[in-house]
Amino acid sequence: MTIDFKQDILAPVATDFAAMDKFINEGITSKVALVMAVSKHVVEAGGKRMRPIMCLLAAKACGATDLQMDPYRKLAAIIEMLHTATLVHDDVVDESGLRRGRPTANATWNNQTAVLVGDFLISRAFDLLVDLDNMILLKDFSTGTCEIAEGEVLQLQAQHQPETTEQTYLDIIHGKTSRLFELATEGAAIIAGKPEYREPLRLFAGHFGNAFQIIDDILDYTSDAETLGKNIGDDLMEGKPTLPLISALANTQGEEHEIIRKSIATGGTSDLDRVIEIVQTSGALDYCSRRATEETQAAIQALNHLPESEYRQALYNLAQLALHRIQ
Ligand code: IPE
Ligand code: IPE
Ligand code: MG
Ligand code: MG
Repeated sequence: MTIDFKQDILAPVATDFAAMDKFINEGITSKVALVMAVSKHVVEAGGKRMRPIMCLLAAKACGATDLQMDPYRKLAAIIEMLHTATLVHDDVVDESGLRRGRPTANATWNNQTAVLVGDFLISRAFDLLVDLDNMILLKDFSTGTCEIAEGEVLQLQAQHQPETTEQTYLDIIHGKTSRLFELATEGAAIIAGKPEYREPLRLFAGHFGNAFQIIDDILDYTSDAETLGKNIGDDLMEGKPTLPLISALANTQGEEHEIIRKSIATGGTSDLDRVIEIVQTSGALDYCSRRATEETQAAIQALNHLPESEYRQALYNLAQLALHRIQ
């Protein structure tokens, strides 16, 4: 069965999604013209809005009714604002020029502007979170965002380090990527007052996030800018030991091994074509696909602890669809 995004994932929360989008636009409003211009530039470019959709579906999977959806719509908007802020900062750190099919904020304005507007978006997100008046939620998000920042710094620490292990890679992606997915779904269980669903939703989102980032790291070697809306080869440029390279190192010896080692150590894309070829022929991509599939299966397994519903099914469909990006 092929999964249709609109019909099989979005439909059960379509009304909430539209309301959430309105909250995002209100949330990024600022009296400072430059803040407004930069925020709009990034937000209007779209993005898949996966995290807020997951938050809304998780809310309904926890039993929230249509009339109770207002705080979840706000939470979903807050999550997308946090996500957008991490992307704006990430593109400064990664010196990336293209995001969501548009020139990045740092490329359009400059690094200073992007860093400060990213800070604004995080601060505003927490400002709105306080309005939800839930200390448990606020604490979860405060701790979680610290861990997201730590994940990014851990990655910086691993940059140009060919010895980086798969475990360290998993720690990095759990922090920088999966943690926000966890906040999105677990946050819904917190607002719903359903503590028993926190763990299954966190496990689902954590494994989903891992699968998603592994796939994203594969695509950095196999896709193209048109499809992705961001340039490929960025990871190699930065000497990032992502799973395709960690696995290629494990699977090769001699000259091929040395090319990968050197590429991580020095960064740069002069060997990009050769690296792509080695990643493909060494079985590294097969290994990454297998790991992404395993993470998706673990995500789906965790969902079994939630009651059966069309919302749980939509979360399941989202995990399947994300995996199909590589198949
Ligand atoms: C990009 O996330 C950052 C990663 C975790 C790879 P998305 O791919 O969800 O970005 P948008 O929001 O759709 O642009
Ligand atoms: C994703 O990191 C950004 C965050 C999770 C903060 P990457 O640097 O790996 O993702 P892209 O490729 O720029 O989207
Ligand atoms: Mg990055
Ligand atoms: Mg990046």
